[in-house]
Amino acid sequence: MSNSPDVAAAHTAYPIGIVTISDRASAGIYEDRSGPAIVSVLTRWIASPWQPVVRVIADEQPLIEATLRELADEVGCPFIVTTGGTGPAPRDVTPEATVAVCDRLLPGFGEQMRAVSVKTVPTAILSRQLAGTRGTSLILNLPGKPAAIEECLGAVFAAVPYCIDLIGGPRFDATADAPAAFRPTGA
Ligand code: MTE
Repeated sequence: MSNSPDVAAAHTAYPIGIVTISDRASAGIYEDRSGPAIVSVLTRWIASPWQPVVRVIADEQPLIEATLRELADEVGCPFIVTTGGTGPAPRDVTPEATVAVCDRLLPGFGEQMRAVSVKTVPTAILSRQLAGTRGTSLILNLPGKPAAIEECLGAVFAAVPYCIDLIGGPRFDATADAPAAFRPTGA
């Protein structure tokens, strides 16, 4: 029967928030390439049905907070990925906005992304990128550089599906192309 919960869940395309935070991209001064790079990587790595919910916004903390709250609470995104605004420049406020909306932080995500990135780019230590949870949403910051997207997502992706399980979100299965998603035996 098509109305059984399992079948219904199998056909639900869960929303994933993809938020580009950039004064210039949001003003149309340059094209956003990082948001589309996130869509491309997640399309290759997530086997379960999902759909991108895309936002391109300026580096304004209240706007970033409002966007993250909307995607988590109203759209119901189990996973929200931001790009940009993680550095030390005065307009970089993505981590502050993320802290403000999260119930809890997951410091290992930022530590791991920096540890992997610094092997290829010494300035990776300048990123204050972090992750945290708001209700049943996992929020993950990535730097604004398109080249950083796959490197940083690849550094932590193995833990993302199980993290979403643990916070009460839907089950996401990874493709064979993804960095091996890890779930403890029996999970
Ligand atoms: N991480 C990776 N993997 N690749 C990069 O090119 N750029 C760094 C850093 N992290 C970079 C990276 C630089 S130069 C900066 S200033 C910080 O991310 C912050 O970038 P953001 O403010 O665009 O988020």
